[in-house]
Amino acid sequence: MRRGLAIGNWKMNVDRSSAMVLVNAIVAKIPEINADLVICPPYLYIPEISEKIANTSIICGAQNVAAHSTGAYTGEISAAMLKEFDCKYAIVGHSERRQFYADTNLAVAERFCQAISGGIIPILSTSETLEERENGTAFDVIAEQINTVIDKAGIESFMNAVISYEPLWAIGTGKTATDQQAQDVHYFIRQLIASKSQKVADKIQILYGGSVKPENAQKLLAMPDIDGVLVGGASLNADSFLKIYSSFQK
Ligand code: 13P
Repeated sequence: MRRGLAIGNWKMNVDRSSAMVLVNAIVAKIPEINADLVICPPYLYIPEISEKIANTSIICGAQNVAAHSTGAYTGEISAAMLKEFDCKYAIVGHSERRQFYADTNLAVAERFCQAISGGIIPILSTSETLEERENGTAFDVIAEQINTVIDKAGIESFMNAVISYEPLWAIGTGKTATDQQAQDVHYFIRQLIASKSQKVADKIQILYGGSVKPENAQKLLAMPDIDGVLVGGASLNADSFLKIYSSFQK
């Protein structure tokens, strides 16, 4: 049985004071559930937030990590730097990074490798566009995104990784993939991993993201290959996010 995982990706939202209001509300109201809860604030707020959640069950993550360990890479943050502030996870290859910052499959694979070697659990984010879904290439696109990372990092490194599936057409649009649409892709991803290693496929958590809300979380999480959720908009409200988190309590 894989452990449930709910991740809140705050993206470039909140300011310093609202970040603290949000984290304080999560700390105050978090129910005791047998699943993990991770928040990924903007980098700048990580030190203060990490301190705040130090003695709680809440885990800190980052929204990205550099593809190099150190050096002249203006604007980047390394895995070692994240580790200094108790970050346990880092998202790599979020569709917004791929779309707006030209993160290629290879660049994502390099970020993934840096996370692994720096002791950070990468959340490899995979996604397809609406056009790719409609022209029938979605599964090929996702396979390519994952295979590039397997080729570079090796399948064994996925023992310490998480994969997310976040269809671009469902992010911030209010349009969620149906439970079955999401399950079909998650099953496909698990089979792809199983073709390289059954042990990794059995262990790896695969999360769904894209307009996850308190109203749809439970049905998504009831699907056999959906182990958790990666939440954007609804994670900016403590009550909504904790309702989603509570969906693990079946
Ligand atoms: P929304 O939940 O706002 O659709 O965002 C999903 C997402 O991109 C999380 O990483």
